[in-house]
Amino acid sequence: MPITPTEKIWMNGELIPWEDAKVHVLTHTLHYGTGVFEGVRAYETARGPAVFRLTDHIERLFASAKIFMIDIPFTVQEIVEATKETVKVNGLPSCYIRPIVYLGYGEMGLNPMPCVVNVSIAVWPWGAYLGDEGMQHGVRMKISSWRRHDPNIIPPAAKGTGQYINSQLAKVEAIKAGYDEAIMLNPQGFVAEASGENIFIARDGDLITPPLSAGALVGITRDSVIRIARDLGVNVHEADLMRTDLYTADEVFVCGTAAEITPVREIDDRVVGEPGPLTKKIQEVFHAAVRGEVERYADWLEYVS
Ligand SMILES: Cc1ncc(COP(=O)(O)O)c(C=O)c1O
Repeated sequence: MPITPTEKIWMNGELIPWEDAKVHVLTHTLHYGTGVFEGVRAYETARGPAVFRLTDHIERLFASAKIFMIDIPFTVQEIVEATKETVKVNGLPSCYIRPIVYLGYGEMGLNPMPCVVNVSIAVWPWGAYLGDEGMQHGVRMKISSWRRHDPNIIPPAAKGTGQYINSQLAKVEAIKAGYDEAIMLNPQGFVAEASGENIFIARDGDLITPPLSAGALVGITRDSVIRIARDLGVNVHEADLMRTDLYTADEVFVCGTAAEITPVREIDDRVVGEPGPLTKKIQEVFHAAVRGEVERYADWLEYVS
C-alpha cells in the first residue's frame, strides 16, 4: 500500500515539512543497517486519537538501542511527547507511527560508535497490513525456507533495521509462491514467528505461543493478547511448536502492531479454516480496547491531547 504523505515529520527535535525529511546518501544506517525502530498505532477514540501502549513501544526502542550500543540523544519521555505532538500536529484521527533511530552522515566503516545518532518520527494513515479480506477470513501462510536468525548471530530481541532483511527474504519467497505471509522456523527447527508478527495457536481451548527464546520479538500485541486471553479465562502457555503443530491446530492467528490480530486460514496448503471462536473473541476485545471501549485496558491508551 503506497504511503500517504502527511504534513510534518519530527526530526531531531523539530517538526519539519514531510518533503524536507531527507537524509544524505552516505548515511551510515543505509550502508550497514545499524538502526532501531518501532511500529506503533494511534486509534480513534471518543476522546480523540490515542496511541496504543506508546511508552512500552518507546521503552522497547531504547532497549533495542542498548543492544546495539546506540546512545539515543533524547529520553524516553521526550520521545513519547514528540510522538504525541507529531500525531496531534498532523490532525489524523488514527495512524501508523514510525519512530526510527539511525546513524547519520559523517563517518564510514564498520565501527558505528563515532556516528551521529538521529531520531525521526513519521505518521501516516495505514489500514489492515495483511488486507481487509485477511482480517475477516484469514490469510494463507507458508513456512519459509529461510530460518529466523539465531540470538547469537543477530538478536531477535532487538528491532534493528538491518535484521529485517531476514524477514524480507521470507516475505518475498511467500508472496512469489502465492501466499500472503511467511512463518519462520528457528535454527533448531521450531516455530519462531511470522515475518512481521508473533504467532499463536489454539488447541483444546488453550492458547500456545512460542517463547521469546525461540527467536520471537518481544511483541507488545503478543503481550496484550496474553493478557486479554487470561482475562477471558483462557489458559495461555509458551511452548516450542513444530510446523506440524500449526497444521493440526484448531485455530491459528498472528498478531502485531501493523497486522493487529489476523486469523490464519491455511498453512502450507493445509486448511485451518475460517477464524474460530477464540480468535474472533480476542480480535473483538482487542479492537474494542484500542478504541478505548474497555475500561479494564484504559491504561493501554496514551491520548495525544
Ligand atoms: C518480527 C516481528 N515480530 C513480531 C512483531 C509484533 O510486535 P508488536 O506487537 O510489538 O508490534 C513485529 C512487529 O513489530 C515484528 O516485526
